[in-house]
Amino acid sequence: MRRAGFLFLLPLLLFSCRPTDEVGHTTTPYALPQPLFFPTINSIPADNPMTVEGVTLGEKLFFEENSCSSCHHPEYSFELGPDGNLENLGTQHTMLPLINLAWNTSGLGWKGEVASLEDMVYAAVTDPKEINTDTTRFVERLQQSDTYPELFHKAFGTSTIHFGLVEKAIAQYVRSLVFANSKFDRYLRGEVQLSQEELNGYLLFVTEEGADCFHCHGGGSNALFTTNLLYNNGLDSEYHGNFKAPTLRNIAITAPYMHDGRFHTLDEVIDFYSEGVQYSEHISPLMHHVMQGGVQLTDTEKAQLKAFLNTLTEE
Ligand code: HEC
Ligand code: HEC
Repeated sequence: MRRAGFLFLLPLLLFSCRPTDEVGHTTTPYALPQPLFFPTINSIPADNPMTVEGVTLGEKLFFEENSCSSCHHPEYSFELGPDGNLENLGTQHTMLPLINLAWNTSGLGWKGEVASLEDMVYAAVTDPKEINTDTTRFVERLQQSDTYPELFHKAFGTSTIHFGLVEKAIAQYVRSLVFANSKFDRYLRGEVQLSQEELNGYLLFVTEEGADCFHCHGGGSNALFTTNLLYNNGLDSEYHGNFKAPTLRNIAITAPYMHDGRFHTLDEVIDFYSEGVQYSEHISPLMHHVMQGGVQLTDTEKAQLKAFLNTLTEE
């Protein structure tokens, strides 16, 4: 009976399935904001413009059970959080925050090895240590659901799902994650004052004779708080390669720190830059104070630097 009913419905379904280039399919452009002191965006691929419908679909896919949000938690700047444990996944790499990636032009992952957000979706879905499925199975499940075919139709003008569209939708959602409303942003916009301690910390951050952080992690004129480039920052005297300088936005809530999670508090990170920097011939020339073992901050200066870093957190 059921089968017969299904067969009877089939022609109707096919008839209502509209082709990709359907005339009259419209979407609403999704406008990304251009926050103060952010570079101009030039990394949105021409073949994946952002639309309200695409972002909505991507968000739903991101938060599906066993999908991206099982590791990338919004309350921890889209990282795993302090109690998260990646060890049983067999990877030594800690998480990276998924914020302001629409402005990333230089590769994703700690080694910058993934070229685009679309490619990262493919990598995450197929990686045995991440979602660990194949794209065919992933698409089949969506195609059989009650809701997804229609959402794909709204976003892309076709209810025939293929993995390229999954990549596009999730990439659009991740690009929509703009963070530009921390206390420090409100200070830049003239809406709040920073305390004297926070201001002193900011001055240390952006001066070479101070804590000398800004060359790699940005500052007032680069409010992404990262260059998105790879460096060796002198964690070890043995060379393990260059790693991405992560954004310092939300840094207070993204412990553990560094690609291998070796530091658990910002105090430990600041102590490292102050007096724990290791020389190797590969260390970045921007680590100007390596011959003194670091930037040599007093306890007061360390507290000021930390107070400033805490102003970069956003609810
Ligand atoms: C099992 C946990 C896990 C899952 C599930 C997961 N990720 Fe990740 N993600 C990570 C880890 C760990 C990294 C850091 C990777 C590295 O460089 O080694 C990362 C890095 C990323 C980055 C790079 C960020 C940057 O600044 O370079 C993006 C983008 C990303 N993930 C998106 C996704 C998307 C989209 C999904 C769902 C399709 C997903 N991830 C699913 C663990 C996960
Ligand atoms: C030469 C470039 C460079 C300079 C200068 C620099 N950093 Fe970094 N920073 C990096 C790199 C690269 C990493 C990631 C290193 C790794 O994991 O191997 C990093 C990581 C960090 C992290 C951990 C981020 C995370 O999400 O795990 C913090 C916090 C940090 N830096 C703060 C600072 C502060 C504060 C200063 C100034 C005292 C500073 N950095 C100076 C390049 C730099």
